[in-house]
Amino acid sequence: MANEKHGTITDNNHAALWHGRFAEGPDAAAVEFETSIHVDERMALDDIKGSKAHAEMLFKQGIISEKENSEIQNGLSSIESDLQSGKLSIDYSAEDIHSFVEATLTDRIGDAGRKLHTGRSRNDQIALDERLYLRRVIPELQKNIVSLINTLADIAKNHTRSLLTGYTHMQHAQPGTLAQHLCAWAWMLTRDVERLEDSLKRVSLSPLGSGALAGSGLPLNREFVADQLGFSGVTQNSLDSVSDRDYCIEFTSDFALLQSHLSRMCEEVVLWSTTEFGFIDLSEKWSTGSSIMPQKKNPDFAELIRGRTGKVYGDLINLLVMMKGLPLAYDRDMQEDKAPLFEALDTVQGNVIVFEAMISSAKWNLPKMEASCFGGFANATDVADYLVRKGLPFRLAHGVAAKCVRLAIDSGLSSIEELSLSDMKNISDLFESDIFEKITPKACMEARKTTGGPSPEQTEKQILALKEFCKKY
Ligand code: ARG
Repeated sequence: MANEKHGTITDNNHAALWHGRFAEGPDAAAVEFETSIHVDERMALDDIKGSKAHAEMLFKQGIISEKENSEIQNGLSSIESDLQSGKLSIDYSAEDIHSFVEATLTDRIGDAGRKLHTGRSRNDQIALDERLYLRRVIPELQKNIVSLINTLADIAKNHTRSLLTGYTHMQHAQPGTLAQHLCAWAWMLTRDVERLEDSLKRVSLSPLGSGALAGSGLPLNREFVADQLGFSGVTQNSLDSVSDRDYCIEFTSDFALLQSHLSRMCEEVVLWSTTEFGFIDLSEKWSTGSSIMPQKKNPDFAELIRGRTGKVYGDLINLLVMMKGLPLAYDRDMQEDKAPLFEALDTVQGNVIVFEAMISSAKWNLPKMEASCFGGFANATDVADYLVRKGLPFRLAHGVAAKCVRLAIDSGLSSIEELSLSDMKNISDLFESDIFEKITPKACMEARKTTGGPSPEQTEKQILALKEFCKKY
């Protein structure tokens, strides 16, 4: 119970949690400089959830009474519902979200509120809040990515026979399909979902009870709190628990890799929407125009997604550098972890959602895609394979096919199939009249039946596998 003597230092619930030792209050500019509430307010619900579990544990351990616990539980529930309904708004003069919740609780329930922080420090509290927050929001991001994978697989389903040249070095390489290309994007994204899943396993340990750095002399029960909050266990070292920000760096690096994938996909969308390629026609709803050039329909959304890559990579570097060289245990530098973590998360999440809307509303110009399969000698490997089937060693077959390409170029032709059979026989008498039907783009694509290859049977299998993957989330 706060008596007269103690009451003098606790009568202002909204003073900084540490004000007791100070004769002077902080300079207003100092407060503005060090506050984090504008950034950490998004963890309000997680902070409340963690505090509820902590109070429950304090009661179970006989540290607070049943009455105090129920006052705390009811008080925190009322703060939670008032925040959600908008009846209560965040007080931005509070130092951080922990101070705001504790001060509001104490306003509402008095002395019991002053017991909430027993055996706890904001150092283990912030680590707990961040872990709870990530466990709450990462599954939403995974769902967004899975929805995009599903959409890509659905589009692919209609295009297992839509011819599209595959490129290496941006030069015609070998024949493929649009479905094969879209599935390639989707597989990149499956790894992002899995990486997030893997990082979730490591973030799923409770640091609460590590205190400021050295645990507590009070009989806390860390395992009980972890269990209540659905963690798989507790962290193993109190110093490490309050100074570890690996999970921020790990998730942000997951985001950076996801962003790299989105950026590469967007680069292709931008390229494919050029007049020169013309493979994709973006919906007017997901394009913009020009203030001066009346004809323009620009792929700005793909460009913006691609353009925000610097932000996400920058956030990762920010975190890595911020943590570099920090001595154990907690250092205030670490308060700077949340802005880059949240910025990277928000950016990739927005990008995934916009990419899906953009790609699902786009139209595909199949004749143009198919036309691109001619004229770039993308079937030269298949000419060599034809000869391999007739027993010629591949290295020699490669040479013969190369001679066919050379002859076509020297004769001003744009494809091998424009040569005559006798021209080809002059190069190798293994060529028969069936060579021409064996090297159409369609035949070349259909022949590529190796697992993961672009033949329709193989792509259909991929689509099924992608759909199965999505069902897990
Ligand atoms: N706002 C702080 C953060 O985000 C909470 C921990 C503060 N701890 C301290 N000893 N000042 O890191």
